[in-house]
Amino acid sequence: MSPLPRLWGTAVSHYQVEGDDLCDWSEWERAGRTRGGACGRAVDSWTRYEEDADLARDAGANAFRFSVSWSRVEPKPGQFDDRALARYRRLIDHLNAVGVEPVVTLFHYTHPLWFHDRAPWTSPKSVEAFARFARYVAGAFGDSVRVWIPLNEPLVFLLAAFYDAQIPPGIANGRILPKVLDHLLAAHCEAAAAIRERAPDASIGIAHNMVAFAPERPDSFLDRLLTRIAHRCYNRGIIEAFASGRWDFLLPPTTRVRGRRDDLVRSLDFFGVNFYSRLHLRCPGKERFVGEFRYADRSGRGLTDNGWEIVPDALESLLGEASAIGLPLLISENGVADAEDRVRAAFIADHAAAIERAEERGIPVAGYLYWSLVDNYEWLEGFGPKFGLYEVDRLTMARRPRPSVATFRTSGRDFLRRPHARRSGAAGPGSL
Ligand code: FCB
Repeated sequence: MSPLPRLWGTAVSHYQVEGDDLCDWSEWERAGRTRGGACGRAVDSWTRYEEDADLARDAGANAFRFSVSWSRVEPKPGQFDDRALARYRRLIDHLNAVGVEPVVTLFHYTHPLWFHDRAPWTSPKSVEAFARFARYVAGAFGDSVRVWIPLNEPLVFLLAAFYDAQIPPGIANGRILPKVLDHLLAAHCEAAAAIRERAPDASIGIAHNMVAFAPERPDSFLDRLLTRIAHRCYNRGIIEAFASGRWDFLLPPTTRVRGRRDDLVRSLDFFGVNFYSRLHLRCPGKERFVGEFRYADRSGRGLTDNGWEIVPDALESLLGEASAIGLPLLISENGVADAEDRVRAAFIADHAAAIERAEERGIPVAGYLYWSLVDNYEWLEGFGPKFGLYEVDRLTMARRPRPSVATFRTSGRDFLRRPHARRSGAAGPGSL
């Protein structure tokens, strides 16, 4: 494994930017199951990826995270479309040519049309299918991609797809959560092994969504208890799984998931944290007895366009928690929906400051990826929220930098100038 280079960059995912991808999510839209409308051409990155790569570089990025569309690459089980791979190859070659590190995600929520019938996540066949896809992609790009993220946010996917039924395959059945989680973690391990086989020097990570939790009423014992449970299960469950090869935690409403896979421990070279906001928890909830959560402006910085609280300080403490795993950390996503670009510059500068404080404490932060390079299709909310450093006119698909690009650039320069924090092993508030 080569050490993760120091990275300052941007992130996108295939479905949210490429356009016209035929997959389970496009079917979901056709069936009228989304609130945010259809993605359609998205922001046309399928034809503009090189332009996007240049925009990232112009903004001072030295890394570009994107995902490979499984449905484009493997439209039929076991049949790969080499034209789709060639498209990604052009992007990767371009990134490498302009000095921007490609960071490749293999699973970012969407599936080929055949997947849920032929190899659903409830079946071990899903693991074989994902490993086959990972092998193929690693075989094609192992020579030119150093940084890989097999899975984006497995817990978010698990809960949204199999508990809340908000995203495909749209099943609401708490009883199957343990099995699906087993398969997701197994799929990660198999994919990591496939990547290592083809690219022994690769750096492999996971993108884990972490949320700052707080009691809605700080003097309520039950709110505080629920906050501790949420933190322990949602944030730390996955960290513990990768640190020890064992997991044992609760998922809503009261499903116990537990299991063991020794190869989880060796499967990571870095740990990715996707961080956005804080949730305030209340127990019992007004409608759900086991508890409810909501966003609220308790930090006094205001809410984002999509109603999320802005809490940069929480990033420092969550990085402390994640550092218990003893691996370099990559902030694999962090960003703000802000159409008017009122708060984005301060948002970026304040999160960069939180990272610097974490590094001063010896927490090994290797990189930061801003979500997102360009405005894009947000899963449940369509094109409403504007996360982009670059604004996109969806009629002409023209990209225009928002003023906060300047802050992204200067914060990046400062970050890249600092040497890697030196520390090995666990420390800080999050020690397991
Ligand atoms: C993350 C997702 C990403 C994007 C941001 C806003 O949870 O990984 O695709 O939608 O939220």
